[in-house]
Amino acid sequence: MPYKPIEKILQEASSQEHTLKRSLGKLNLVSLGVGAIIGAGIFVLTGQAAAQYAGPAIVISFIISGIACAFAGLCYAEFASMIPIAGSAYTYAYATMGETFAWIIGWDLILEYLFAASTVAVGWSGYIVSFLKDVGLEIPLQYTAAAGTEFVKLADGTWKILDANLTKTLTAQGIDAANLEHITAFANVPAMAIIFIISSLLIVGVRESASFNNIMVILKVAVILIFIGLGFAYINVDNWTPFIPENTGESGHFGWSGIFRAAGVIFFAYIGFDAVSTAAQEAKNPQKDMPVGILGSLGISTVLYILVALALTGIVHYTDLNVADPIAVGVNRMGEGMNWLRPIIKMAAIAGLSSVILVMLMGQPRIFLSMSRDGLLPGLFGKVHPKFQTPYVGTIITGIVSMILAGVLPINILGELVSIGTLFAFAIVCIGIWILRRTRPELNRPFKVPMVPFIPIAGALVCLVQMAFLPLDTWLRLFIWMALGMLIYYGYGRRNSVLGKAERNN
Ligand code: ALA
Repeated sequence: MPYKPIEKILQEASSQEHTLKRSLGKLNLVSLGVGAIIGAGIFVLTGQAAAQYAGPAIVISFIISGIACAFAGLCYAEFASMIPIAGSAYTYAYATMGETFAWIIGWDLILEYLFAASTVAVGWSGYIVSFLKDVGLEIPLQYTAAAGTEFVKLADGTWKILDANLTKTLTAQGIDAANLEHITAFANVPAMAIIFIISSLLIVGVRESASFNNIMVILKVAVILIFIGLGFAYINVDNWTPFIPENTGESGHFGWSGIFRAAGVIFFAYIGFDAVSTAAQEAKNPQKDMPVGILGSLGISTVLYILVALALTGIVHYTDLNVADPIAVGVNRMGEGMNWLRPIIKMAAIAGLSSVILVMLMGQPRIFLSMSRDGLLPGLFGKVHPKFQTPYVGTIITGIVSMILAGVLPINILGELVSIGTLFAFAIVCIGIWILRRTRPELNRPFKVPMVPFIPIAGALVCLVQMAFLPLDTWLRLFIWMALGMLIYYGYGRRNSVLGKAERNN
């Protein structure tokens, strides 16, 4: 199996015919990271995880998940400073574990980037639908949810999604859901629309997109800071007692097992710092700036998450947090005087989620670009636009697939696939650092992970443990996805691999 020597990787990067424009500085990179990280995790999932699994101790879950990501983040930083090439974990695996592993990780990263864009687009759709409703614009229900989602009309005239919980509640009340008025969703149209808009923007240019990203990031961080700043004045410390609610008797529901399960759920909130590494070829000074971008954005997000979690669980009792917009509910509890903040929170969430989608949709075509230049994907994926200098064909393909997924799949299936795929990628990156320290100790490492092999091994283990707690059907989907990937590799990539061909000719 061919390995791609790091020297070759670096040399290729500097000699490629249509190289990408080097326009991103330190601040842009940190902003890119924060743009990718802060999104549906904090704006949607935090409340649900607190209400169902951890209570106020969700703060501890954020710390645990943050430590796991810090280990992986350090490993990413070492790789990104050593191999500052677009392609992320894919390129790192090519250098350390050989082509088959590189393909596996590249294929797996589609779950992290493309699928995450779809997942967050579904979250975005929820916020925009609610915001438009506040201003008097109602989007018909059948266009607001995954294809096939059933809505039923309840006695009070409201429409609700008919899920297992609702069916159970209705049955307990002696109501047969089949007799209620029904609407079946056709597709999640707002989710599809946002992917279309952002993909179009990405074709025009990275610098333009980075400026758009900066504005979105400033908006969402500002609103989070306002929430934290004002929120601390409204904290009722009684809401924090008990800080770790007693386990209900069922594993994963409060107590320490609940804290760990919640850590697995909110892991989604941290995904994205590694997206910085996919922009390495567009960084002005990648060796120095990549670690700053990765670790800086991870650090900022971790601190903000912990503070938001403290404020939120202090303002609202955790049992009231099982909602789609927990931060907005937090503002509601601050009293009438704070009503002005509500639309602003929703708008910031909409902006914040847009920037996550942007970074994910920007990362995916750049991974495709690397894979195509290595011959593992058709040349089409590597086409760079002569005027805009962006990988436009890959961006269009990514956009179309991501749009379809966002239109037809529900958020939980998408989200769990993203988590398992990302954890897998993180584990491989951690192990890769350890391997490369042993096989190529002499390489120039502008940034070095401290305490090797402890940190890489601990990082990989924490990822594997979190994967182990994910449901069986998610594992099954991962296997099917990977099997499909192997078919494509043996059918196409292995035969067309640039390095493979060179080896065979020798
Ligand atoms: N971390 C990103 C989010 O929470 C994926 O939306």
